[in-house]
Amino acid sequence: MYLVFKCSLSSAGLIHLVLLVSSFSICTCNPVDSSANYHLVRAGCMLLTNQDWGEPQSLILNSNMTKIVYPETEDSVLLYPCEDIVLACPGSKFKLTEDEVLHAKCERGTQISADHGGSPFDFQTASCEKLPRTTAMATGRCGNDGEMKNIEIGFVVKENFISLIDICFDENLLTANFSLYQASYRIAGRQHGFPRMNFIAGKFYGDVEIWKLYSRQKQRETLARILGSEDLASTYIKDDKSYYLARGHLTAKADFVYGAEQMATFYYINVAPQWQIINAGNWAALEDNVRTYIIKNKLEVLIYTIPHGVAVLPDVDGTYQPLYLYFDENNNGLIPVPKLYIKAVVDPVSKTGIAFLTVNNPYVTMEEIQEQNYVICEDICDELDWLTWDPTNIKKGYSYCCNIKDLAKSLDFMPEIDVDDILR
Ligand SMILES: *[C@@H]1O[C@H](CO)[C@@H](O)[C@H](O)[C@H]1NC(C)=O
Ligand SMILES: *[C@@H]1O[C@H](CO)[C@@H](O)[C@H](O)[C@H]1NC(C)=O
Repeated sequence: MYLVFKCSLSSAGLIHLVLLVSSFSICTCNPVDSSANYHLVRAGCMLLTNQDWGEPQSLILNSNMTKIVYPETEDSVLLYPCEDIVLACPGSKFKLTEDEVLHAKCERGTQISADHGGSPFDFQTASCEKLPRTTAMATGRCGNDGEMKNIEIGFVVKENFISLIDICFDENLLTANFSLYQASYRIAGRQHGFPRMNFIAGKFYGDVEIWKLYSRQKQRETLARILGSEDLASTYIKDDKSYYLARGHLTAKADFVYGAEQMATFYYINVAPQWQIINAGNWAALEDNVRTYIIKNKLEVLIYTIPHGVAVLPDVDGTYQPLYLYFDENNNGLIPVPKLYIKAVVDPVSKTGIAFLTVNNPYVTMEEIQEQNYVICEDICDELDWLTWDPTNIKKGYSYCCNIKDLAKSLDFMPEIDVDDILR
């Protein structure tokens, strides 16, 4: 394909040229043929996700502010010459102007120009006063009979809501029933080393001070009450790096390209109690394997993460007791410690999918796993050759794989997932 760009100096450009006697030009360009291969367009812009973003970063959006612009190959965001974009600082404003959004276009290299005129500027200087603000918004009902609350986490940019994570939240148990997002091979270019942040409770927990419940001291108190023994609680919740209940991300931080998006995972509604040794063990390995797989196969997949059931531990009398992080005034357990963590990966294009299940209890025995309904569908991990986890290691989280249809038979509620075959 042959591309010709006709550029002419706009009057704004002329004025600048005259006043500043500088060599830049502001072009007005003909509409660009978007079917063209980016790599043929040498004069466009290339922004590297791990190099060219200012701090705190702004969001880079398409011209109608409905989508975030992602890197095309590895960490390069490529734009056509004069391609219209919008830069946004949801919840704050650009350091250099008073604006929350800036309509702009690609000049060349890392140079951007604002639609309202002025000199082109380096993309890096378009930083915000604060990191883009994420918003968690109730958007409807979910569940078999609409018994749960649908909450989406994303960015409010002017009148648009750019949704990143979709959560079905059980208001009675104060836990996510599942968390859903679209993962893309474009995470190959994700921003690394973006700092973690404090978790946000939002308005979803009523009087329950959710942020206090995950401290180890509080976990020991809660477990002591459940198991009838402080000593027993202290043997399960230790002061080391492995044996305590972490805030286990359902939708993972590292599954998003931009730091501002990664921050959207730091909501209590997007976590469930997960033993840290498992979180850092087979669960981390699985998340990593899935990322590598979708990058290698250039996929855009849907990832459902489902905390399932309630973990148990034997109390002082040896009776299994279900584990919760909180009890209401009627002594109902809320915020269950899941028995299983389930991740279902679905490719909507090929209508294939696969589910992964990890037992969330480093203290169970192999006998218990076999006899107490920990394996709820037929293990088909043999059909996959890209998993590097250590699935029979109970401390790291005993794990297996299932056909999604097979799994669905064992769950009371399963989000609508349309698959014909196994994603291998
Ligand atoms: C927004 O822009 C994209 C292309 O950048 C286009 O596909 C989509 O239809 C537009 N949406 C609206 C509502 O204009
Ligand atoms: C998810 O919803 C189903 C159907 O209401 C319910 O049986 C299941 O216990 C829920 N899971 C969690 C973790 O709340």
